[in-house]
Formats: sequence, structure tokens, C-alpha cells
Amino acid sequence: MRHLLRTRDLTRDEAIHILDIALDMAAVQNREVKKLPTLRGKTVVNLFFEDSTRTRISFEAAAKRLSADVINFSARGSSISKGESLKDTAQTLQALGADGVVIRHPVSGAPQVLAVSGWITAGVINAGDGTHEHPTQGLLDAFTIRQRVHGAGARGRGLDGVRVIIVGDILHSRVARSNVWLLTTLGAHVHLVAPPTLLPVDTSGWPVTTGFDLDGALAGHPDVVMMLRIQEERMHGSFFPSSREYTRTWGLDGPRFRALQPDTIVMHPGPMNRGLEIAPIAADSPQSTVREQVANGVSVRMSALYVLLSGERETATVSGDGATEHHAIQQRSAAQ
Ligand code: NCD
Repeated sequence: MRHLLRTRDLTRDEAIHILDIALDMAAVQNREVKKLPTLRGKTVVNLFFEDSTRTRISFEAAAKRLSADVINFSARGSSISKGESLKDTAQTLQALGADGVVIRHPVSGAPQVLAVSGWITAGVINAGDGTHEHPTQGLLDAFTIRQRVHGAGARGRGLDGVRVIIVGDILHSRVARSNVWLLTTLGAHVHLVAPPTLLPVDTSGWPVTTGFDLDGALAGHPDVVMMLRIQEERMHGSFFPSSREYTRTWGLDGPRFRALQPDTIVMHPGPMNRGLEIAPIAADSPQSTVREQVANGVSVRMSALYVLLSGERETATVSGDGATEHHAIQQRSAAQ
């Protein structure tokens, strides 16, 4: 794998491989020394043309824990605000000797342009492009679900038969798109629930069912309820009558949360609009994985950086046995 641009392209085996390596990375996070020497001497550039807290910090932590040199480049205050093009920026990255570029961009497809342009030789990871995809978020969500559903027996497994509903601003959500492709590739059933104005006009090519009725969907006792943020910054017009109306019809409020089965998990990629799409009682409950998602984000991004940049493709064999795999990572790291 040269680049990670969208989950739509991942095969089931590739996805499970990334999730399994993330398990090994998670084990490293529990050690006293959290660092591996795997990417020593490599340079990872975080190129953020859009605001981000979680994703940027998470990629930075992931790259540093693999001992890469990290350069953070945010659009604000850089030459981008003076009109520099993506091509000029790319040429700067190439001159810096970047081995990996993590890019977030408001335009759907920008990471793809960077990957296929020939301007850079680095591996490209899409950290969210417009309303298109956010593959590492999909992977960390899949990882989180797999851990909750399969526990210690998660390694090597997919999400066969797991029932997921994704609720809210699907129209603007790259998180929803990455999850739709990835979770279904892993065997889950995905149902999308949104106001008609916040569902894409044509989802006929998506491997999902859709509806407008949240209470009806919750009555089917899904295993996972994933709430999405209302993305006002991408709305140029009125998509629902009022916030109160939205919460009443599509929010995971107190009564809806209390009616969930005790083992239904509640997810949100963050940042949350507390009180709008999700009530604090739901967000802060033991059924919520919001904090787990953030912690898992570091392990999954370490895995993605490792798979793309360590040259693992040439040397690794995928083993179903955690101890062997972990040992293999350490051996490879030590050899560098
Ligand atoms: C998401 C994003 O930026 O797409 N957040 C994230 O990566 N943690 C979702 C959102 O902004 O609502």
C-alpha cells in the first residue's frame, strides 16, 4: 500500500491487517516506554489546511511514538494564506525530504491530487478531505467497535453481523462515508438515519439502508449508534427548522439514550455539539466510546504510518498470532 486515501479501496484483508497491527501498537502504549524506533530517520509532515484538534494531535503523537521526525504545517500563517498553490507546497515538501504526508484539506480529492501528481514521492494519508473521506477515522471507529464486540478475541476478525446506525449530518460527513465503506467491507450492516435534507440525494450506490425515523431505527436494537456532528460551517442555508426541533427528532437525548439496550455502544467522532445531536448523559456514559475512540486513534494512526512507511510490505508476513506479530514488529524495529 503506497497511500491511504479512502476506505472504499481497502479490501477486508487489508483492513483487518491494519486493525491487527493497531492492536500491537496499542500494547506498546501500555508499556512504560511508549516509543518504537521503527520510523527513525523518516520525516512525516502534517499538512492541515482545515482546523483540527484531535486528528492533528493524534497523527503527531503517532508519528513521534514511531520515532519519526514530525513537521507540522498549518495553512493559517503560512504562504497558503498568501495564495501559494498545492503544487508549490508539494514541491517544498519534496525539497524537505518528506517520507509521509498527512493532509487535511477542505476540497474533496485534494489528497488524491497530491498522491498521483508526481510532485512528491512521499506516501500520502488522507486526514479528511472536504465531504469525501476520513479513512483513519473509519479505521479507528472499526477498531473501537471490534474491541467492544469481540474483546480479547478481536485479532483477525471482522465485524460480521454487527448492526450499526449512523445518525445525523450524513450529507456533509466524510466520517460517515469512510465508515459506510469500511464497516460494510468488514461485514457490518449499516443503516443511515437523517433528516431528508441531510441525506445525500443519491445513496443508491452505497451498501446501506437509509431512513428518516430515528425512533424506528432504535427500536430494532442496533449494536452501535454513531452520532454525527451538525456541521454548520459547511451549511449555506437552512437544513432543519430549529435546533430544538432537530434534537427532538434526531438527537440522542436522555429518553432515547435510557431506552437503549445496556450493551449498545454510543459513538461520536468529535467535536460534539452537546445538547444538540447528543445529550451529555449519553456522551459521558460507560456505553459511550468517545474517549476510547480518541485513544484508539493514536494506535490506528501508528499502524497506518507503519504500514505505509516502514517498508513492511517487503518484509512482513501477516500472522494471526499476536505475540508473533508483536515480536516481528520489535525485531524489525531493532534491526533499523
Ligand atoms: C470529524 C472531521 O473533521 O471530519 N472530526 C474528526 O476528525 N475528529 C468530524 C467532524 O468534524 O464533525
